[in-house]
Amino acid sequence: MNETIKIILNRRSIRKYKNEQIKDEELQMILEAGKYAPCGLNQQSTYFTVVQNEKMLKKINDVCKQVYLSSGIKVFEDRAKADNFCVYHGAPTFVIACGEKEVAAYLNNGSVALENMLIAAESIGIGSCWIHALTMIFQTEEGQTLKNELGIPDNHVFVGAAAFGYKDMPQPSPAPRKEGTVNIIR
Ligand SMILES: Cc1cc2nc3c(=O)[nH]c(=O)nc-3n(C[C@H](O)[C@H](O)[C@H](O)COP(=O)(O)O)c2cc1C
Repeated sequence: MNETIKIILNRRSIRKYKNEQIKDEELQMILEAGKYAPCGLNQQSTYFTVVQNEKMLKKINDVCKQVYLSSGIKVFEDRAKADNFCVYHGAPTFVIACGEKEVAAYLNNGSVALENMLIAAESIGIGSCWIHALTMIFQTEEGQTLKNELGIPDNHVFVGAAAFGYKDMPQPSPAPRKEGTVNIIR
């Protein structure tokens, strides 16, 4: 098995990180991998917001907590009530991918960019986890204010986000793969 395949198969979602920032050259490599993902009509519609500022990270978590608590969805309310609630699992680097809403494939473009970044991170020994929770918060007034504070352009909408940092937990084992998800027609 070649290194690329090994890395793809070994990548797991990491939910506990060391309290140490990743190196800037590592961040740049991860972002480069995101920017070089395939995209419809080569429109390069993804806008990456990197948050490494502790106050801003806390603000993101506070807004998420608030929105979750008033969501009326029990599973989210229960999560937000936990003392250690942290939507980005305590990672020191959080990347938010948004897409130009006028671009038809913005969701696909942003998603493949995020996946490229997760794989790139794994290849250089950095843990990551896709974080979808912000979908809900950007639909609220508090979320819109946060979006402005983050400097995300008005015509961009949330696609997904990812936490990055040095792993502080053993590599999880993958769940078994479902059967019957492939049909090869020859
Ligand atoms: C669209 C999407 C949304 C996800 N949202 C979250 C999330 O909000 N929080 C989280 O901890 N993990 C999230 N994950 C990670 C999944 O839980 C994880 O990929 C899945 O359980 C498989 O585990 P693995 O990544 O270790 O292989 C998300 C993954 C995807 C692709």
